[in-house]
Amino acid sequence: MLGVPHYSFRVPSQLKAWIDRIAVPGKTFRYTAKRAESFVGTKRVIIALACGGFYGPGCPAENFEHTLSYLKSVFAFIGIANPEVITADGVNVSSEQHELSLKAA
Ligand SMILES: Cc1cc2nc3c(=O)[nH]c(=O)nc-3n(C[C@H](O)[C@H](O)[C@H](O)COP(=O)(O)O)c2cc1C
Repeated sequence: MLGVPHYSFRVPSQLKAWIDRIAVPGKTFRYTAKRAESFVGTKRVIIALACGGFYGPGCPAENFEHTLSYLKSVFAFIGIANPEVITADGVNVSSEQHELSLKAA
């Protein structure tokens, strides 16, 4: 389970540092001539994501979303194709929206 705040359109530096430690050849995957081969096996991953604003499809800031897309790429690369995602977005828009977003998540 990863608790991920959306910081400056991407993952916080602490989480990036952890990813840099695990997404390493010989640790979670190895390169072959054709592709990266995972050592991770079957693992359940849950991403609990919070964003101050909105970045979903159709939102004006959609193109600034580099958090979930990045995490999905990293996990796919090390062999976890389908992480489960729980999102609370818009939590800094207003106190009403904060409550709504947390309930929806
Ligand atoms: C340093 C920093 C950068 C942030 N950048 C963004 C951002 O780019 N977009 C956004 O929607 N919210 C942003 N937020 C708001 C957080 O995503 C939001 O508060 C989150 O739900 C909770 O994170 P926190 O508990 O670490 O404050 C930022 C917050 C901080 C502290």
